[in-house]
Amino acid sequence: MGKIRKIIVAIDGPAASGKSTTAREVAKKLGYTYIDSGAMYRAVTLRALQEKVPVEAQQQVAELAQKMELKFGWNNARTIIYMDGEDVSEKIRTPLIDQKISPVAANPLVRRILVRKQQQLGRVGGVVMDGRDIGTVVFPQAELKIFMIARVQERALRRQKELEQKGMKVDLEKIIADMEYRDQQDAGRSHGPLKKADDAVEIDTTGLTIPEQVDRIYRLAMEKISETTGLV
Ligand code: CDP
Repeated sequence: MGKIRKIIVAIDGPAASGKSTTAREVAKKLGYTYIDSGAMYRAVTLRALQEKVPVEAQQQVAELAQKMELKFGWNNARTIIYMDGEDVSEKIRTPLIDQKISPVAANPLVRRILVRKQQQLGRVGGVVMDGRDIGTVVFPQAELKIFMIARVQERALRRQKELEQKGMKVDLEKIIADMEYRDQQDAGRSHGPLKKADDAVEIDTTGLTIPEQVDRIYRLAMEKISETTGLV
């Protein structure tokens, strides 16, 4: 009997399309590792703000990215990201980071450093990774690629709820405007743009529940696992 091969599941899509919650749950069901690539761009942005390095200063920001140590940890409910040993999971998910991140994510030097880290993390397979360029740049060989979309109104409502749970009240119109701006920046940049890979399965999560999204991707992953292992 063949050995069960661990595949790579790449989940890309615009802001707040449900990628991270879904990716985390799918990973749990598969017994895989979940990696949030967006958290890495967020951490670099946080470090630039802390060091008062302008987010547009490509070389300086890349130096910060190169120097910092990023590690992921997990407890049941959430993913923890450590930047040089400090848990920055909360600090990186704020409207300020959302507003400042685009030049950092468009910086080709930063992308080269982070893409390499992501590839190392996924080297042995058994990984679910979400982001913008996972299926196109980081793991073009991923066995399963999902492109997750949802209506902007619904995505903004999800983000507003997330922020409310953290005690932040933000106007819906402002969230929509910020989100549309960030999506445009993500889709328009020349390095690692937000783009559906030709072989990605598109899932519109407008009106779907998290368990429904998880179930669809989990089934697709199980199909891929049996195809690549030849165990059916
Ligand atoms: O949760 P949300 O979808 O709002 O954001 P995220 O996945 O944490 O990503 C935050 C930002 O990081 C995105 O708007 C992108 O600019 C950038 N990013 C990227 O450029 N490439 C990735 N693979 C992941 C995120």
